[in-house]
Amino acid sequence: MSGLVDSFGRVHRDLRISLTDKCSLRCTYCMPEEGVPWIPKQSVLTAEEIERVVRVAAAEGIESVRLTGGEPLISPNLIEIVRRITSIRGPSGPLEVSMTTNGIRLPEFIPGLEEAGLSRLNVSIDTLDPDRFFELTRRDRLIDVLAGIEAARRSTLKPLKLNAVVIRGVNDDEVVDLVEFALEHEAEMRFIEHMPLDAGHTWVRGEMVPRDEILAALRKRFDLEPVPGRGGAPAESFAIDGGPARVGVIASVTAPFCANCDRLRLTADGQLRNCLFARDELDIRSALRDGASDQAIRDILRAGVAGKRAGHGIDSPDFVQPDRGMNAIGG
Ligand code: 5AD
Ligand code: SF4
Repeated sequence: MSGLVDSFGRVHRDLRISLTDKCSLRCTYCMPEEGVPWIPKQSVLTAEEIERVVRVAAAEGIESVRLTGGEPLISPNLIEIVRRITSIRGPSGPLEVSMTTNGIRLPEFIPGLEEAGLSRLNVSIDTLDPDRFFELTRRDRLIDVLAGIEAARRSTLKPLKLNAVVIRGVNDDEVVDLVEFALEHEAEMRFIEHMPLDAGHTWVRGEMVPRDEILAALRKRFDLEPVPGRGGAPAESFAIDGGPARVGVIASVTAPFCANCDRLRLTADGQLRNCLFARDELDIRSALRDGASDQAIRDILRAGVAGKRAGHGIDSPDFVQPDRGMNAIGG
């Protein structure tokens, strides 16, 4: 069934689509305060163009789509895009469509997202302290994020996941508090190792808090049991105090999960990336706008998969960070 099998036998089932590179925050690990070269408006894919790519991808074996940014709630077409792609069928039924968001303005969007058929949300929250929030995101919006998480808790968009990038000396003393906060909101907290993907290229390894340190901090307060059956998921999952509540760790740097990767990415300007850390992209936007057939688009998807490397190589001496920042790649 699937045409999206790479040279290492990895079958691709998940497509991450960045809807915009713009954002209401300026997280230091993602974007610089100023000087971001924004994608020109005319290069951003339309709802129809996204639908077309997803239709072809679904026929090639894609089963789930995650909408990301920048901040997807800023995209003027978000609800229309969700509506269009939730009506597409994948190999085993309707596509599962989820979204990663910073939560700002989420309360006003939730009814529309539910109605359009979205399945789930991941909301980013790195700290519960307003001053730290300002330091990390350069915006004073913690209150809005908290309102977004509360609205998500009351919604049908479940299970709710919360993401935090852990940064040494900034929020690494908050991991237990964040798990308790997530439990109160019927959510699964997931901690992410800081990756070299900031548009400002300021990553230093020493600021990254490794998986083992995150787990050691959590184990001071909780009993954690690994949950088997991870599959292609980036997060390693642990049952908290016997379950059913869980916490996840995404150790992209110290315990890479590239060998089981099933993900492809489409940037807001219609470039296909086979890895977060890819240095090459394939131009789907030009193909779409030059009148390409479905087969031609399918061939670009297959070529992207065929060219996928074994892993991101962060630890290799010749590792070069991609030019695009996370905001323009999509998380
Ligand atoms: N390292 C790890 N995670 C990152 N994110 C953004 N930039 C980075 C980075 N450099 C995360 C956000 C969000 C998701 C979209 O990606 O925190 O959870
Ligand atoms: Fe925006 Fe997410 Fe980047 Fe933060 S990490 S600036 S919330 S896109």
